[in-house]
Amino acid sequence: MIAEPVATSVRLFHVDTEFVRVTPTDGRLHSIGLPYVLTATPSFLRFSSGSTDEMDLQLTDNAALVTASSSGLGKASAKALAREGANVVINGRDADRLEDARAEIEDVATGEVVAQQGDLTNEDDIETLIETTVDEFGGIDHLVTSAGGPPSGPFLDTDDDDWYQAYDLLVMSVVRLAREAEPHLREGEGTIVNITSRSVKEAIDSLVLSNSVRMSVIGLEKTLSKEFAPDVRTNAVLPGPHETERIEDLVNQAVDRGDYDSYEEGLDDWASNPLERVGDPMELGNTVAFLSSPVSGYINGESVLIDGGSTGANL
Ligand SMILES: NC(=O)c1ccc[n+]([C@@H]2O[C@H](COP(=O)([O-])OP(=O)(O)OC[C@H]3O[C@@H](n4cnc5c(N)ncnc54)[C@H](OP(=O)(O)O)[C@@H]3O)[C@@H](O)[C@H]2O)c1
Repeated sequence: MIAEPVATSVRLFHVDTEFVRVTPTDGRLHSIGLPYVLTATPSFLRFSSGSTDEMDLQLTDNAALVTASSSGLGKASAKALAREGANVVINGRDADRLEDARAEIEDVATGEVVAQQGDLTNEDDIETLIETTVDEFGGIDHLVTSAGGPPSGPFLDTDDDDWYQAYDLLVMSVVRLAREAEPHLREGEGTIVNITSRSVKEAIDSLVLSNSVRMSVIGLEKTLSKEFAPDVRTNAVLPGPHETERIEDLVNQAVDRGDYDSYEEGLDDWASNPLERVGDPMELGNTVAFLSSPVSGYINGESVLIDGGSTGANL
């Protein structure tokens, strides 16, 4: 079982040269080590906020739009931003699921949470999402893009329609969202975080669409990190397996194809990484909140793996 995360505040000790220890003030285990360690300097531990003691993500009253956030990684990201004080617009196609998510996020939120139904493959719905965020909260400070996952299966079982649909959902949604959000993001210290997959670093078996199409999002992210800078920072997170409906679906599809004898066997395989578990969605959500925060102000054009160390690449 994965513990319910996470507090907002940590106490940090600089010990010696590059060695940093992170000790949460509430004594609980937090899932924020990597990005915080990334901010360490050889001589002093210092954050862009200037704080040397407590960490405040400085998101209070900011406006965030998180797409595909009625479930899974999008919902966790919206929750982390809302918990840190941002006003958040969430989105999904199914109205009931969206309302359930809104209520769940509102429980931890200190700002407002607004639900806007919409299909990310529909250009008009994307415009509505942007308009809703601006109308409700007066602008857009943070855009977090997630989407549904493409179907799994080997290359020869994948037809042209599958390729075009995956491109429309995973790439064109991000293109349109970034284009529409850009003038609003430039008005403040805007940020974009694209949720993609570790498949951009290492091809995953039976996920040819994810392995191929998501590379475009990384090309876009790197481009925006230059073209929208210095006004807007753009980063990506690359999840490995996290405990969401998407993973349940993928494991069930693999069992149906005969790749595994049982759901448990499949899940064990997905959890095979140095940490010997799948991720808690909030572990990813907290990293998204961190990358959206001015505290991470010098991180731009980065792709952060959140996969328990399963990806073999050195970089
Ligand atoms: N979970 C993982 O372990 C993992 C690992 C690597 C990559 N990823 C990728 O990360 C993304 C999110 O995964 P997840 O685990 O959060 O999935 P999830 O739990 O299945 O949630 C998907 C969310 O996307 C929404 N959605 C799907 N299609 C949509 C559309 N056309 N328009 C608007 N909303 C849409 C769903 O709501 P509605 O269905 O109601 O629209 C739901 O809120 C996916 O691209 C997935 O492939 C996930």
